[in-house]
Amino acid sequence: MCGIVGYVGLGPTPDGKKFDHDAYDVIIEGLRRLEYRGYDSAGIAVIGDGEIEYRKKAGKLVNLENEVEASPLSTSQIGIGHTRWATHGGPTDGNAHPHVVDGGKLAVVHNGIIENFAELRAELLEEGFEFRSETDTEVSGALIASIYNKLDSKNLTEAVRLASRRLEGAFTILAMHVDHPDRVVATRRNSPLVIGLGENENFLGSDVSGFIDYTKSAVEMGQDQLVTITATDYSIIDFDGKPAEGKPYTIEWDAAAAEKGGFDSFMDKEIHDQPAAVRDTLLGRLNEKGELTLDELKIDESVLRSIDKIIVVACGTAAYAGNVARYAIEHWCRIPTEVELAHEFRYRDPIVNEKTLVVAISQSGETMDTLMAVRHAQEQGAKVISICNTNGSTLPRESDAALYTHAGPEIAVASTKAFLAQITATYVLGLYLAQLRGNKYKDEVREILRELEAMPDKIQRVIDNEDQVKNLGRAMAEEESVLFLGRHVGFPVAMEGALKLKEIAYIHAEGFAAGELKHGPIALIEEDLPVFVVVPSPRGRDSLHSKVVSNIQEIRARGARTIVIAEEGDEAVKPYSDTVIYVPEAPTLLQPLLATVPLQIFACALAGAKGYDVDQPRNLAKSVTVE
Ligand code: F6R
Repeated sequence: MCGIVGYVGLGPTPDGKKFDHDAYDVIIEGLRRLEYRGYDSAGIAVIGDGEIEYRKKAGKLVNLENEVEASPLSTSQIGIGHTRWATHGGPTDGNAHPHVVDGGKLAVVHNGIIENFAELRAELLEEGFEFRSETDTEVSGALIASIYNKLDSKNLTEAVRLASRRLEGAFTILAMHVDHPDRVVATRRNSPLVIGLGENENFLGSDVSGFIDYTKSAVEMGQDQLVTITATDYSIIDFDGKPAEGKPYTIEWDAAAAEKGGFDSFMDKEIHDQPAAVRDTLLGRLNEKGELTLDELKIDESVLRSIDKIIVVACGTAAYAGNVARYAIEHWCRIPTEVELAHEFRYRDPIVNEKTLVVAISQSGETMDTLMAVRHAQEQGAKVISICNTNGSTLPRESDAALYTHAGPEIAVASTKAFLAQITATYVLGLYLAQLRGNKYKDEVREILRELEAMPDKIQRVIDNEDQVKNLGRAMAEEESVLFLGRHVGFPVAMEGALKLKEIAYIHAEGFAAGELKHGPIALIEEDLPVFVVVPSPRGRDSLHSKVVSNIQEIRARGARTIVIAEEGDEAVKPYSDTVIYVPEAPTLLQPLLATVPLQIFACALAGAKGYDVDQPRNLAKSVTVE
């Protein structure tokens, strides 16, 4: 959840040049980019004049900046910073990181949860350590200090390594000691950390946005490893002290991709990024014969041919992408497909074996619930493909194969472009499996591939009509409850529409399967209640369209205000709609790529009209790295 940045620069150079970059500037910039990971407090520590200096403040990053302006830090070439999403201890100045322990000699920042912190705390109290916060982080700092003080070598890396072996739970910890003003030592288990390599300066970040302004050269670390960075070097070891190799890669995003680009909010920008996100996710998937090729899939084709069940595991919006995928994959591949919320998966003793393919969907690649579901599936012998947006993150690294979405950095907490890219990637996977296994809908599959290529332009057309939806959102700012209905793939779209409204506008919203209405939820309908209805294509199969039109009539007859999302040219919905939002024609299975977009625009406009910060909604964090 939290965001972490570390920096070491060269310091004074022989030519008298002082510092290339000041640690504060580097770290504050990194924290700004990582603030989406948690924003209830922030802090920074540097070593200046042989002492650890630190400032930390509850609230958003700007509070920390004001604090530093009022009480500046010394110029420095080494520092660590943190932006917090509280776990142990409320969001107060005292609980904010860094935690400076051992009489000001050691500073730590931490992301994750130390599960055995109470036991360690009791032990360290016995040793004479005093604690000023309620956090597990301060305990981890004290543990490192305690071990360090007992080491003859006074080797900070060794102290962090030995401490890591005693810690249980999930953690990335960065440590800095006054005795070693040239290095930051970082350790990780089940929590993200990436190394950035510059010229005479090196960086650490929860993800590459922590240092993207300074370098494009990054190194991915493995599980249960430590890294020590100095200005000119880095070295990785595992928790047994054995040297380990990192995996270098080049960051393809540029800093501008992580900026708002003239939009009012990141969410607004990311909604507008969606045609490109879908296009880029499709890019390079077809060979000259018009067949799908997936180089990123490292699972043997014979294994993929032999699977007899697919289970999609994911959380929140990513799980709704999985729900869309289920309709598509079952139809195209004829493989039974289940979708399971990742946090429920392993606790129900699921039936998983070597013939099961688990598809884990995650924007961040760090969602602990999803990661744990994947590990459980692998223990039972299943193969795992992850669909992920973040290169170098844990989930694709731990999976048997990865299919990357190319949505670019998603900064707003509420997912938009990652959702469309995830759906696109699941289509690609479904079509690939269909092609591999041969199936009875061969012609349809070929046709769908062609249709998919046309989707980015159609999404753009939906965005071009955003004013109608924005005006609707602004006009509905005072609503207290909104319902969303859909059938077939429109059902997960309805769920996603409701989730967007809940999370950024704090309005009661529910998504229902339209067919379920008569079985209970219709009792909620009262005079003037706004109800969005996602209507399938009138050209689709199984009279789905007419069934949904009947549903609209049923709720309208009971006083609902109906806002209908329908395909261009669908005149049948008009008599029963207070508002119709038309989207371009598309095959039913692909319709979520279009029908979701007005719901995102609506939520964003409505929340904006209420004066809320749509990028950083209350109580949420972008990356949920605790269970
Ligand atoms: C909602 C949202 C969340 C995430 C969920 C999974 O807008 O963003 O529901 O979809 O927390 O996150 P990832 O995809 O990073 O695993």
